[in-house]
Amino acid sequence: MPILSTFAHAELPSAFSWQAVAYMRQIWPSLFTGGLTWLREPYPADLTTFHVVIHQDEVLVSYAAVIRVTVSHDGTDYAIDGVGNVLTATPYRGRGYGRRVVERVNEWLDGSDADAAALFCAPDLESFYARAGWLPCPGGTRVVTGSESWPYNGLRMMRLLSPRGRAAAKSLLTTTMSVSWAW
Ligand SMILES: CC(C)(COP(=O)(O)OP(=O)(O)OC[C@H]1O[C@@H](n2cnc3c(N)ncnc32)[C@H](O)[C@@H]1OP(=O)(O)O)[C@@H](O)C(=O)NCCC(=O)NCCS
Repeated sequence: MPILSTFAHAELPSAFSWQAVAYMRQIWPSLFTGGLTWLREPYPADLTTFHVVIHQDEVLVSYAAVIRVTVSHDGTDYAIDGVGNVLTATPYRGRGYGRRVVERVNEWLDGSDADAAALFCAPDLESFYARAGWLPCPGGTRVVTGSESWPYNGLRMMRLLSPRGRAAAKSLLTTTMSVSWAW
C-alpha cells in the first residue's frame, strides 16, 4: 500500500525529487524553457519548500509542494503559501491519491502563519480543489515580469488563512492579482 510522507526541502530524497521533475516535464513541458530548461528540482532551494509525497517504497505515486512567496496586492504585501506541482503519476490516477495529497497540504496550511494560500490550475480542476475547501478567484491573474505583463489563462484558487487574509477576502478573491510567476 502506498504511504504518505512529508519532507522539508533539504530532506527530500533525490529519487522523489527526480521523479517529480520527470513527471513535471511530461505534464507541463512549456515550463522547461529559458532559465528553467534544465530544471533539476521541483522548486528552487531558496523557497523553503514543503513536499508531500505518496509513494510505494521509492516509487513516487502522487506529489504536491508548498512554497512561501510575498505578493503585493491592492497596496498590501501578503505572505502567501503557493501550492504547486500537484500531480499523480498517470498509471495511478483516479484512485484518490490526488485528493489525499491535497488534504495533507490543507493540514499544513491550517498550521501556517501565511495570510492566504494560492494555486493555479486548469478550469476543469475547480471542483477537485473546491471539494477540499479552495475558492475560485474570478478576478483572474496577471503575470508581471519587469516591463512585460500578460493574463494567466488558467484559474487561480485560494484559501484564506490568517485573520488579516480573511479580512481582505473581497480584495484577494475578486480582484485581479499580479504575480511574477504562476507557480
Ligand atoms: C489532478 C490530478 C493531480 C488528480 O490526481 P488523482 O490522483 O487522479 O486524483 P483523485 O483520484 O483523488 O481524483 C479526485 C477527483 O478529481 C477528478 N479529476 C481529476 N483530474 C481531473 C480533471 N483533469 N478534470 C476534472 N476532474 C478531474 C477525478 O475524476 C476525481 O473525481 P471523483 O472523486 O468524483 O472520482 C491528476 O489528474 C494529475 O496529475 N493531473 C495532471 C497534473 C495537473 O493538472 N495537476 C493540477 C495542477 S494545479
